[in-house]
Amino acid sequence: MSEEKGSFSGKVGFVLAAAGSAVGLGNIWRFPYLAANQGGGIYILTYVILVVFVGFALSLTETALGRRTGKSTLKAFGALDRKSGWMGVLPALVPAIILPYYSVVGGWVVKYLGSYLTFNGAELISDSFFGSFISSPYSPLIGFALFFVVTSVIVSFGVQKGIEKASRFMMPILVVLCIGVAIYTLTLPGAMEGMKYLFVPNFSQFSFKTLFSAMSQMFYSLSLAMGIMVTYGTYMKKDVKMDTAIAQVAVFDTAIAILAAVMVVPGVFVFSGGNPEALNKGAGLMFVTLPKVFASIPGGDFVGILFFVLVLFAALTSSISLMEAIISELMEIKQMSRRKACVIVSIYSLALGSLASLGFGPLSFIKLVGFTIFDFMDFASNNVMMPVAALIICIFTAWIIKPETFIDEVKLSSTFKVQKIYSVVIKYVAPVLILLVLITSVMEGLGLISY
Ligand code: PHE
Repeated sequence: MSEEKGSFSGKVGFVLAAAGSAVGLGNIWRFPYLAANQGGGIYILTYVILVVFVGFALSLTETALGRRTGKSTLKAFGALDRKSGWMGVLPALVPAIILPYYSVVGGWVVKYLGSYLTFNGAELISDSFFGSFISSPYSPLIGFALFFVVTSVIVSFGVQKGIEKASRFMMPILVVLCIGVAIYTLTLPGAMEGMKYLFVPNFSQFSFKTLFSAMSQMFYSLSLAMGIMVTYGTYMKKDVKMDTAIAQVAVFDTAIAILAAVMVVPGVFVFSGGNPEALNKGAGLMFVTLPKVFASIPGGDFVGILFFVLVLFAALTSSISLMEAIISELMEIKQMSRRKACVIVSIYSLALGSLASLGFGPLSFIKLVGFTIFDFMDFASNNVMMPVAALIICIFTAWIIKPETFIDEVKLSSTFKVQKIYSVVIKYVAPVLILLVLITSVMEGLGLISY
């Protein structure tokens, strides 16, 4: 290796960086609208149960794989079992697909924040703003490039001086902003109706759809099945209690997702006079509906600034982890210096991200299996590659090297009281659920079933 592998300074450094990866657009943008249009309380309950029983085990497995082998995804599998080296290829590729288009969305956040900061928040509230902004040729590229350059500069400073330091700075601010904005939206008249919808589970609304969509959201939100936790695991010192660290990350991530739902859903509820249709906006909820909510409340522009700063921080700490997963692979396989790897990944991501961004406008004639470039990258990574990668990781752990290998790794520094449950989850519960998610999400993406 051409450069010393870095490490986090200790448990807090690991937890903040890993939580930084986990807490992202998935929590603040995706979770609230999923919770809103999938029955509210029942969705949140299902999600929490899945995190406790499945997400924790999977996240622990990936981290243990990294710490045990000291290798990033591409080599980690082969290091434990020579014949299984190929299993690392898919999870190692996922971040390279997600990073460019994730940064495009990061760029939209930059634009929105910029508008609020320059007192132009009013432009965001027209119905057509979002659509015409993302399909214009240049303006989304500026935000995207800015977002990406910041990501890349932080990563170029390395594990402790770059990633850990940035997470130590941004994560506490993010938590404070989240709590502040949530308290604010709760004071709006009528907000309690929204809260009731969010937190009182209505069991008649439960369906397999609830289960599967909560499951795939959980993967995305905990940054699983894409080599990130493996990479961060290699930076975790052996004396850090891995099980409690991972539990803290999972709790952190889930708490922020629920807080985000508290920030977004009651506001929209109040704004729309309790009409659940308004919550069915899907992806547009954050970029289309929320600015209108902010415009309708006193001091809304200021809340808009706080909100988009927090979204920006959440997105940045996630894109950092995506980039780091790729950088660590390059440093390991190609013996490349961190700096050189950063330059190469930057050129690649700027090129691919620009294509994804232009795919909404000038390049919208390009269709891949019926998808725009952006949607294709999203579909290929989230609906196909991630579930397959997760399945591979489960099979590898359960049936090839046996869960005991990782149980031993965890036990280096903790008693690991839940090891029996861990084995059962990794052998049976997780693979079955993942397989079902894979089948339904591919069918859904191809329009064979509708969600
Ligand atoms: N977990 C992040 C989120 O919730 C998203 C993410 C996906 C981060 C992939 C890194 C990698 O938004």
